[in-house]
Amino acid sequence: MIDRTVRVGLCGLGTVGQGVLALLSEGGETIAARAGAQLTVIHVATRTPKPDVDTGGAKDSRDVFDVARDPDVDVLIELIGGTTVARDLVVEALKHNKHVVTANKALLADHGQELFALAEQQGVSLRFEAAVAGGIPVIETVKASLAANEVTSVAGIINGTGNFILTAMASEGRAFDDVLAEAQALGYAEADPTFDVDGTDAAQKLVLLASLAFGAAISSDAPYKQGVDSVAPEDLEFARELGYRIKHLGIAKRDGDALQLRVHPTLIPEGKAIANVDGVLNAVMINANGVGELLLVGPGAGSRPTASAVCGDLVSIAGALARGETPAAPSMSVPVAKLDTVPIADMQDVSSAWYLRLNAEDKPGVMAEITTCLSEQSIGIESLIQKPDASASADVPVIILTDIATTRSLSAAVSAIEAMPSVVGDVVRLRVENFH
Ligand code: HSE
Repeated sequence: MIDRTVRVGLCGLGTVGQGVLALLSEGGETIAARAGAQLTVIHVATRTPKPDVDTGGAKDSRDVFDVARDPDVDVLIELIGGTTVARDLVVEALKHNKHVVTANKALLADHGQELFALAEQQGVSLRFEAAVAGGIPVIETVKASLAANEVTSVAGIINGTGNFILTAMASEGRAFDDVLAEAQALGYAEADPTFDVDGTDAAQKLVLLASLAFGAAISSDAPYKQGVDSVAPEDLEFARELGYRIKHLGIAKRDGDALQLRVHPTLIPEGKAIANVDGVLNAVMINANGVGELLLVGPGAGSRPTASAVCGDLVSIAGALARGETPAAPSMSVPVAKLDTVPIADMQDVSSAWYLRLNAEDKPGVMAEITTCLSEQSIGIESLIQKPDASASADVPVIILTDIATTRSLSAAVSAIEAMPSVVGDVVRLRVENFH
């Protein structure tokens, strides 16, 4: 039995907080042996009492700041979410020389540089493995295991709720709202799932991943953002017919001196492994000069997978404390002051192939006119399908896969197509990434 103890304060006893208590309790002596210390939760705080949660006799406070100021706490785990109280809490904990573990991507996307700098100044550790891709150990992989590499791109399914929704819509034909409600019930979605569906959650995670991978200071509003809610059931079907899957991706990619940062639904060839990562699973595909292409896959949300990442950080800090070291490596790959300022690529200049869906009158000459609109912008066509008129309506869906084109030239072509009298309504456009 190891008699050294690292004392933990836990703020927030929701889905992930309860997962942390469960894993620490189940892991007991095994975790202690790995850390070289017993990990004992001595103080918990929740806004409202949680009498049903067994905290093992820990002190129970209503004010999270009591934990930050508790002189007996060595490591504070922040699982309250949000960016206001959570920010003040982490600041308070760092100022009291606590090491901090957080799963809060919103907090770090908005205030990471300030908080990381404060941790460096205080000589304590601020770790956030659980903030990106749930149970996948991607932060430590990029930060430590790939330290000898120059990363050229990162592309990932980094919102579990969104992937769960797209998968159920595509494979079971279920309605968006119905699947979202199930994702909420399973503890995958955020308290307010708006950020899951509009791309904000994925954008926050991309900011953290890209900052690490490219050693860059990136603001939380830098990524272009299009949510999973922009995908219609018929797009999932047509994509499949064309040999593609639609996934909601976060992409960070070197583009000359600039960095592309974008989250959006993306058609991916069905033969690519990442196209077949389904359900709540996340996947992060990294291209780097040493390792080549790497694909990390695992549960991207949920109580125990996220708690696994939190506990990994905790054990790492506890291990250093137990060895008598100061566990105060920078939170990023380099100290905050050494992060580069990198220009973000203008989305109008970003190129990709495109999927277009429109409704057009079924009469001679319409297809020729549509293809002219594209060719006038020098955009080639990979395939074009006119669906038969099943509903006997005068309009038929037309699906087009284009060659590579910039957003600017594609938009010009789409405007010309939408101006055609024989085209009804707006043109749906989604990016295609072939990942050659
Ligand atoms: N709501 C998030 C998701 C939780 O669905 O990915 C994990 O960050």
